[in-house]
Amino acid sequence: MTKKTLTTSAGAPVADNQNSMTAGARGPVLLQDYQLIEKLAHQNRERIPERVVHAKGWGAHGTLTVTHDISKYTRAKLFSKVGQKTPMIARFSTVAGELGAADAERDVRGFALKFYTEEGNWDLVGNNTPVFFVRDPLKFPDFIHTQKRHPKTNLRSPTAMWDFWSLSPESLHQVTILMSDRGIPVAPMYMNGYGSHTYSFWNNDGERFWVKFHFKTLQGHKHYTNAEAEALIGKTRESYQEELFGAIERGEFPKWRVCVQIMPETDAEKTSYNPFDLTKVWPHGDYPLIEVGELELNRNADNYFAEIEMAAFSPSNVVPGISYSPDKMLQARIFSYADAHRYRLGTHYEALPVNAPKCPVHHYHKDGAMRFFPNDTGNPDVYYEPNSFNGPTEDPSVNEPPLKISGDGDRYNHRIGNDDFSQPRALFELFDAGQRARLFSNIAAAMGGVPPVIKERQCRLFDQIHPEYGAGVRKALEAAGEGYDPNAIPVTDATPQEAAE
Ligand code: NDP
Ligand code: HEM
Repeated sequence: MTKKTLTTSAGAPVADNQNSMTAGARGPVLLQDYQLIEKLAHQNRERIPERVVHAKGWGAHGTLTVTHDISKYTRAKLFSKVGQKTPMIARFSTVAGELGAADAERDVRGFALKFYTEEGNWDLVGNNTPVFFVRDPLKFPDFIHTQKRHPKTNLRSPTAMWDFWSLSPESLHQVTILMSDRGIPVAPMYMNGYGSHTYSFWNNDGERFWVKFHFKTLQGHKHYTNAEAEALIGKTRESYQEELFGAIERGEFPKWRVCVQIMPETDAEKTSYNPFDLTKVWPHGDYPLIEVGELELNRNADNYFAEIEMAAFSPSNVVPGISYSPDKMLQARIFSYADAHRYRLGTHYEALPVNAPKCPVHHYHKDGAMRFFPNDTGNPDVYYEPNSFNGPTEDPSVNEPPLKISGDGDRYNHRIGNDDFSQPRALFELFDAGQRARLFSNIAAAMGGVPPVIKERQCRLFDQIHPEYGAGVRKALEAAGEGYDPNAIPVTDATPQEAAE
């Protein structure tokens, strides 16, 4: 290989990359050593803000291959024919930990996918769980505060977590999954992914269907117990990066079976549960999984920072044939992610190579930070619309079918008329004795140091899922020496502040 010459970022050859320029061998350094100043200045700018949530992550490039025809549900080109392959990138993450957090911690895992389709980027920004902790976006920042550090102690606070959860019964389904065996996957390839929200498909005939996306691991489920994870973290904090990167380097490409559940548009008025409620699944018995394709991760990033850290996923990125639903949480996320990207990465983050669509892009956004890409309307006179210079124009054929909306604008109490117990009960009833025992002890471990009134309030919610659930957690608390004394606890649904008075 021919030897390459080191250059400045302006392209000029560098004469010496070992010694600073000084007045005499002992110094001082001269201000005109621009290369030294440039290196120090660049280093000072090597960090960008970490993601406010999902900061610690692992990712890779891959391919989606369509194996079954679903074109009767969606006109999306990526699903247009069997055998169709779409390049994509995935990023998995934990939610609460910071950039340097250990990988094998008990937490929900992010499962974010960006598909570079011929009609633009489609992002599915899901989790390894089919549901979420809250159903109203107004509660998302409060929930995340309970997962992050306490402002005074700068420690994570089990009291804050259980205080919030015990006052938010809609969290029970997700809390049960989080505390179950599936709460600490061994590595990203050993877990399922879910789009979680209800999205929509629409076809060439203008018919709309509601859809949920499932990614079933083909490596099988593998999980750590608390004890195994603790022992592992003592040895390595980077187990997911090692496993995922290593497997792909060895050619052992992780795969998932991609499935959808489809609900005809008008069924949404008939189901006993709100199908747009993110704390609920659609039972498989009612809406069976329909196989669509296979997802394979087959290429590691060459530069983690440029391709994984600077990847910007957003539920707002949909393509013709795939769209949103009335889910309130999804609606909030449509705003939140692009806003986060503009802050974290800069105005034109979508033009970064990892985020740039692999199809022609024509827009009239103008200046701003990182405007490094050319005017792609093909004509310097075309920077507004309408214009007389053959600039790009809209395409009414990709208008999605109109959505019927009804109701008075108001703040509706989402806790009224919502059954928060039946679906966690269905899950609890799937668990065998061993799974239940580990669920109880995982919860007791996570409740260490939490005030008794909060523990009791939470156990009463577990009682409503199943009497054995509440009883099991109480017993595990006693076994953990958690100072649990049911008689000392006020029999009240009061908040901790009220109970303390
Ligand atoms: P099914 O018996 O048809 O499906 C049970 C589902 O539970 C499977 O998807 C299985 O995933 C999953 N599962 C098993 N253990 C766990 C766990 N510890 N954490 C999360 N998921 C787990 O039942 P239904 O469709 O009638 O649903 C019953 C309950 O199963 C639901 O209330 C919900 O809690 C849970 N569930 C349902 C899903 C759905 O979309 N219907 C999706 C995921 C969970 P796998 O097949 O990969 O083993
Ligand atoms: C990351 C907001 C709910 C999955 C993020 C980020 C924000 C955010 C601001 C950081 C984005 C970035 O800097 O790139 C919200 C809000 C929510 C919400 C406001 C609810 C109202 C959810 C739900 C899921 C989810 C329900 C899963 C179903 C993710 C994932 C990431 C993420 C996977 C990381 C994406 C990546 O790898 O870059 N969220 N979130 N979030 N969120 Fe959410």
